[in-house]
Amino acid sequence: MAHDASAVSAPSGSSAAQSTADPFTPPADSSLWRKDFLLGAATASYQIEGAVHEDGRLPSIWDTFSATPGKVLAGDTGAVACDHYHRWREDVDMLAGLGLEAYRLSIAWPRVMDAAGAPNRKGLDFYKRLLAHLKEQGITTSVTLYHWDLPQHLEDRGGWLNRDTAYRFADYADLMSRELAGSVDAWATLNEPWCSAYLGYGNGHHAPGLADGRFATQAMHHLLLAHGLAVPVLRANDPASLKGIVANMGRGTPNTESREDRRAAHLFEVQHNAWILDPLLKGEYPRDLFDLWPGTEPLVLDGDMRTISAPLDFLGVNYYFRTNVESDGAQGFREVPLAGVERTQMGWEVHPDGLRDLLVGFRQTYANLPPIYITENGMASDDKVTDGQVDDTQRIAFLKRHLAAVDQAIKAGVDVRGYFLWSLMDNFEWAFGYERRFGIVHVDYATQKRTLKRSAQLVAKFLKERNARSS
Ligand code: FCB
Repeated sequence: MAHDASAVSAPSGSSAAQSTADPFTPPADSSLWRKDFLLGAATASYQIEGAVHEDGRLPSIWDTFSATPGKVLAGDTGAVACDHYHRWREDVDMLAGLGLEAYRLSIAWPRVMDAAGAPNRKGLDFYKRLLAHLKEQGITTSVTLYHWDLPQHLEDRGGWLNRDTAYRFADYADLMSRELAGSVDAWATLNEPWCSAYLGYGNGHHAPGLADGRFATQAMHHLLLAHGLAVPVLRANDPASLKGIVANMGRGTPNTESREDRRAAHLFEVQHNAWILDPLLKGEYPRDLFDLWPGTEPLVLDGDMRTISAPLDFLGVNYYFRTNVESDGAQGFREVPLAGVERTQMGWEVHPDGLRDLLVGFRQTYANLPPIYITENGMASDDKVTDGQVDDTQRIAFLKRHLAAVDQAIKAGVDVRGYFLWSLMDNFEWAFGYERRFGIVHVDYATQKRTLKRSAQLVAKFLKERNARSS
């Protein structure tokens, strides 16, 4: 069933699903045709579940933040979102109907544990049912433990600025991996620690909304420590699964070839990538980070870096855009937006080569680079349903070009094993609320009706063809 795209009903009158040469299908020599290259879709708990007061779920920092006037566009919150907490079964069936082979989801920490650390059975049962149904449908499950919805009671005690939160996270990882062992193929500890640390504590764009550079580096250290403490716990409780982490990676390019601008681009990538990858893969923070942000060295205790750099089974890479930068005339960089380039609804530049270049660069920089999954890639567009159809032409080209970039990286020797579209369906896009639509499935938030966009139909068509060839 999971591989049966015939369950997808294309709207009548759509010829795209029938045509052979379509704007999505990869060329014949693409690695994407390999059956062992996993193709899936991703979501995250706070962005889709809703039901924030149900079955004993406690408040998270995103409930608090989104309820604070001025923090989220149009005052949107995740209170209802895609109502996935109630519609999970049909959402999984939709995913399976598209022929997608893998699903990346996250667990809402405040749904499954109370403030004293005791399990919340009702919350746990939700994920047990969800994972069991995914397994029934033959779908590979990738579970992220922390996609930003920190329990508010932990934030009240300092959140990621408090070292104790890292130990609480290890307790949470312990509970989850004892309860869910056997139904998770891959565990990711954190999603995008850069966003949690920098946007959450460094510039205040995300929950909890604090803005201090010193906070950002300390929060990052505790996030990475939380990851490092959780990995051995996950290994002990669920040995058969993969363990890794998901990070957003940024491509910085110099505005000119001057030495200053090239240094600026280097610092951009240090701040976005090496800040996370060096501790994980080299066991140290990049020194350049503290040239960029003098005086922000975090408090690191003996043994922390060893804990943080425990070997990983995979690295999840999230990629969206590149940033063109120049020297700011002092220690750092500033963005120089390029004119005349293609952009998405987010204003992000479409730049598939950045994904390839990052992957190839990481392979050169880190001798111990683990196997890679692209755990998020996609784009927002202002999609509308017209006569039952959503013609998301820009997204189709975007996906095709980024998958081609992944193929190029594989051919250059990078071990990329899979790709998850962001996102399965339109959802709560953090500080941008519901205005920005990233899904391959359209969600009408008034009725909760799901409509397959043309991108979803073309992905399904490709997967069906790929399946037919290899069977
Ligand atoms: C990433 C987040 C994900 C989604 C995309 C667009 O930074 O991990 O939840 O919001 O951006």
